[in-house]
Amino acid sequence: MTDLDAFIAKLPKAELHIHVEGSLEPEMMLALARRNGVALPYASVESVQAAYCFTQLQDFLDLYYQGMSVLIEEQDFYDLAMAYLRRAAAQNVRHCEIFFDPQGHMDRGIPFRTVIDGLWRARCDGERELGITGGLIMCFLRHLDEASAERTLDEALPWRERLIGVGLDSSEKGHPPSKFQRVFARARNLGLPTVAHAGEEGPAAYVREALDLLGVRRIDHGNRALDDPTLIARLVAEKIPLTVCPLSNLRLCVVPDLEEHPLRRMLQAGLMATVNSDDPAYFGGYVTENYLAVQRALDLTRDEIVTLARNSFQAAFCDKSVKQGHLAALDAFLAE
Ligand code: ADE
Ligand code: ZN
Repeated sequence: MTDLDAFIAKLPKAELHIHVEGSLEPEMMLALARRNGVALPYASVESVQAAYCFTQLQDFLDLYYQGMSVLIEEQDFYDLAMAYLRRAAAQNVRHCEIFFDPQGHMDRGIPFRTVIDGLWRARCDGERELGITGGLIMCFLRHLDEASAERTLDEALPWRERLIGVGLDSSEKGHPPSKFQRVFARARNLGLPTVAHAGEEGPAAYVREALDLLGVRRIDHGNRALDDPTLIARLVAEKIPLTVCPLSNLRLCVVPDLEEHPLRRMLQAGLMATVNSDDPAYFGGYVTENYLAVQRALDLTRDEIVTLARNSFQAAFCDKSVKQGHLAALDAFLAE
């Protein structure tokens, strides 16, 4: 381990792009399948891992939806989120904004309440026991229609105060942000900040649509924005953060290898890039492993690493006082 590796491990950070269902480790998947009597096509951790061979986003999503079928009870959602938060705390993540996909559960007959109760209890215990701030971002599945997203938002209304935002994920190609204009407008009218996956596999035009039609305050991934110089200039001028996920990009073949990853180009262009894990149980690493891998591949400097961590707090959806506290803790760490 180099000095820079040790520095990265200890560095206070925020994680803004993590799908809680994507933190389902094979061990927990098999244990919950047994606990809940759910049949899976795998007999061992090794056979689960052997299936994790993806050439595009959809290959992963097929396994991701199959994997989440083991989540049935409130306790399952709690255990999943708490396991993630414990790992995050061990990596000096101080603030987490956690995505969840209610339609992936409600469509299997799991009530919204079961999902939100388990995740919320973990979020509160995470703050009390681990000191991690943050909250839950409810995502709509873009391969489903807008009416389904509208019904999901209706279901969420009683728990509006448990949400810090609304997002858009799942199969990007052929499902432009424009499909969800009305439901995003309604979410914004409820005071919920919005984000969307865009420019992961889809074109730069989808990033533009997410800004213009969904009013998003951050872009999840955003790699393909680099194809469009006018869009880059706009993202820089408007200080729109990008939640970048290097190991995800590698595993889903968004980049051919990490040496070609656009993260350094993003920083050099003045974009507010952050580093995140996306679906750590499926892509081979939590947030620290993402920093380590991309640092090594691009030979990022200590200053660039600090910029990424500072950006992660700057881009967070939290009260000014919470944000100032995290930034002060980062500065104190750097002064040590
Ligand atoms: N859902 C979980 N991970 C995702 C990703 N990387 N892109 C789109 N949808 C997702
Ligand atoms: Zn994602």
